Amino acid sequence: MNKNCMSIVLAAGEGKRMKSALPKALHNAAGKALCEWVVDAAQTATGSKPVLVIGNGADKMREYFADSVCYAVQETLLGSGHAVMAARDYLQGDGYVLIIAGDMPLVRAQSLKALIQKAVDEQLGACLLTAVLDDAAGYGRILRGKDGVEAIIEHGDATDEQRKIKEVNISVYCFRIPLLREALEQLGSDNAQGEYYVTDCIAYISNQGHRVETIVLDDNSEGMGVNDRVQLAAVSQRLRARINKALMQDGVTLIDPDAVYIDATVKIEPDVVIYPGVTLEGDTHIGSGAVLYPGSRIQNSVIGSGTVVQNAVILDSQIGCSSTIGPYAYLRPKSIVGNGCRVGDFVEVKNAHIKDGAKVSHLSYIGDGEIGEKANIGCGVVFVNYDGQKKSRTIVGKNAFVGCNANLIAPVTIGDGSYVAAGSTVTADVEPDSLCIARSRQRIISDWAKRRRGE
Ligand code: UD1
Ligand code: CA
Repeated sequence: MNKNCMSIVLAAGEGKRMKSALPKALHNAAGKALCEWVVDAAQTATGSKPVLVIGNGADKMREYFADSVCYAVQETLLGSGHAVMAARDYLQGDGYVLIIAGDMPLVRAQSLKALIQKAVDEQLGACLLTAVLDDAAGYGRILRGKDGVEAIIEHGDATDEQRKIKEVNISVYCFRIPLLREALEQLGSDNAQGEYYVTDCIAYISNQGHRVETIVLDDNSEGMGVNDRVQLAAVSQRLRARINKALMQDGVTLIDPDAVYIDATVKIEPDVVIYPGVTLEGDTHIGSGAVLYPGSRIQNSVIGSGTVVQNAVILDSQIGCSSTIGPYAYLRPKSIVGNGCRVGDFVEVKNAHIKDGAKVSHLSYIGDGEIGEKANIGCGVVFVNYDGQKKSRTIVGKNAFVGCNANLIAPVTIGDGSYVAAGSTVTADVEPDSLCIARSRQRIISDWAKRRRGE
C-alpha cells in the first residue's frame, strides 16, 4: 500500500459569524492566517503541498497562499462533502488522503501524523480524530458498533439518545482514497441542513465492511474551531501560549507571558528579556541579550544583541548591537541603526542610516539621510527632507556635531568633523572640520523694557 498521503484543507466556507469583509480563513491568529496554521500542519504531516478548497473570498485566498498550496474551487457552498467533491480530481491512486477543516489552527502536525500512521498501518477504510467533550452540543457524534465506528450523526439530525454521546467529530479525517471516491458518488443531501456531509462517507465505508477507527485527542483544545471572534480570541491566546512556552524553554525571559504578543514568525535568541505589553510581528529577529521594555511594537525588523528598546515603534528596520532605542522613539521603514548608537526620546527616523556610535538623543526628525560614525545630533534637529514636491537627502559626516534646533534643508551635506551652531538653518553644504553658523546675530537693546514701562 502506498504510504504517501495527500491532504485536503476545507476553507470555502463563508464564516458568516465573523461579520467580516475578510474570509474567515484569512483572519490573523498569532501571526499567521487561521487557515495557514492548518495548511502548515498538513504540509508537515504529509510532506506534500495540501489541496486547499476555496470558494468564499477565493481571490484573496489565492493571493495569500500563492503557490504554497494546490487549489480546488467550490463554486456553490453545499456542505463539507460537496467541498471534498470539488477536490475530486486530486483523489487519485490507492493511497490515503488527510481531510481537515481549515478553521482549527490548534491541531498539531504530530496528531495528523499519528492519524495517517494508524490508518495506513491498520489498513483502515478511514480513521478520524475525535474529542470527548462534556458539552458536545453542535458537534457531529461518533456512533460506535462492535467493529469500530459505524457513522457520524450531525447534531441537527441526531436523536435525543444520540445527543448524549460525548465523543465528537472535530473534522479531521484520513480516508482510503478509492473508498472515499465511491462514498462521494453515493452522497446525498437529505438531512437537517440539506447539505452534502463529508461525515456521511463514514457510514458508507463502514457499511462496505471496512474498518473505521478513531484517535481520541489527549488535548481537546486541538479540536477548537473558530466560528466567531470570541473563538478567534480564545484560539489566538492558546497559540500565543504555545509560542511563548517554546521561547521560554529556549532561553528567553518573558516577565509576564500572558501579556506579550509574539507572532509565530518571530525569531528570538537566548537571554533576551521581554517585558509586558510588547508586540513582535512578522519577520522579526531579536539578538541575544536584548531587552524589550513595555510598550514596544516591532515589525519585520532586526534588533541586535544587547540592544535596549523602550516604548518604541520599529517597522521594517535594522538596529545593531548594544544600542539604545527610546523611550518613545519611532523608527519607520528602512531605518538602519548601527552598533552602540543612541536614538532617544521623541526621535523619528525614516529611510535613514545612523552609523556606529552616533547619537540622536532627543526630539529630532531624521528623514532620508545618513549620520556618520560618532556624530552627535543635538536636541530638536530636523532633517528638512521635503520641499512639498520631492524628498531629498541629508548627509552628516562622521564625528560631526549638529547643535540643538538646527534645520538641515536637504539636499545638504555636513562634512566630517564639522560643527553646526545651535539654531542654524543650513541650506548649503558645510565643508569638513569647519563651523557653520547660519542664524542672525543677536542684538541687545539696553533699557528697552524700562522705556516700555514708561520709567
Ligand atoms: C462539521 C462536521 C461536524 C463536526 C464539526 C466540528 C460536517 C457535516 N459536520 O460541522 O461533524 O463536529 O464540523 O468540527 O462536516 N466547508 C466548505 N464548504 C462548504 C461547507 C463547509 O469548504 O460548503 C468547510 C468550512 O470552511 C469549514 C469546514 O468545511 O472549514 C467545516 O464546515 P462547517 O460548516 O463549519 O461544519 P460544521 O457545521 O461545524
Ligand atoms: Ca455547517
